[in-house]
Amino acid sequence: MNEILVLYYSRLGATAKMAQLIARGIESTADCQARLRTVPPVSTVCEAVESDIPDDGPTYVTLDDLRECAGLALGSPTRYGNMAAPLKYFIDSTSNLWLSGALVGKPAAVFTSTSSMHGGQETTQLTMMLPLLHHGMLLLGLPYTESELLTTTSGGTPYGPSHTAGADNKLPLTREEKHLCRALGKRLAETVRKLATG
Ligand SMILES: Cc1cc2nc3c(=O)[nH]c(=O)nc-3n(C[C@H](O)[C@H](O)[C@H](O)COP(=O)(O)O)c2cc1C
Repeated sequence: MNEILVLYYSRLGATAKMAQLIARGIESTADCQARLRTVPPVSTVCEAVESDIPDDGPTYVTLDDLRECAGLALGSPTRYGNMAAPLKYFIDSTSNLWLSGALVGKPAAVFTSTSSMHGGQETTQLTMMLPLLHHGMLLLGLPYTESELLTTTSGGTPYGPSHTAGADNKLPLTREEKHLCRALGKRLAETVRKLATG
């Protein structure tokens, strides 16, 4: 079984919904299973210690989750055109994996949610890719053969799935946004499978 890590941070739930759809896309592919993980919020109190298991939702990610995965989907709400601090905080703890090259050659993809249509989805996606490139991962986006990229009037980009959640974060994912989440999961899983079987 090829396990693909779907690692995300979500404060209000939009990125979490996208993660679940991406996981469905992964699991629609034979021999592929999604491992959903999240990160705790960062504390303004230095080095505060949280339990490993949150009150609800997926468990917190560990470095072993990253070491063991065959691929990675990384999701974050957009914060000022960039990924959220809790996710960046975790990524900054991965230097041992970087030193040992543990992620080199593994496929990876990114996704995000914003309030506003032009609030920085692409800048978040592109900057989320940078640490993954440093790790030697193989970045995947979405091809325009997914025609929803052309018809969407909300989220969805060639750099990965995205969602426009509105000012109060209440807009549901549109049909196109949902389709592109599942398509990304499927593409990631199919790539992992192809690499595994040579
Ligand atoms: C500190 C902060 C910064 C934000 N920056 C942006 C931004 O640059 N562009 C934008 O459109 N939305 C921005 N938002 C809104 C979130 O990206 C949006 O509500 C997102 O859908 C939340 O995802 P979640 O439901 O997974 O937490 C920001 C929210 C916060 C709290």
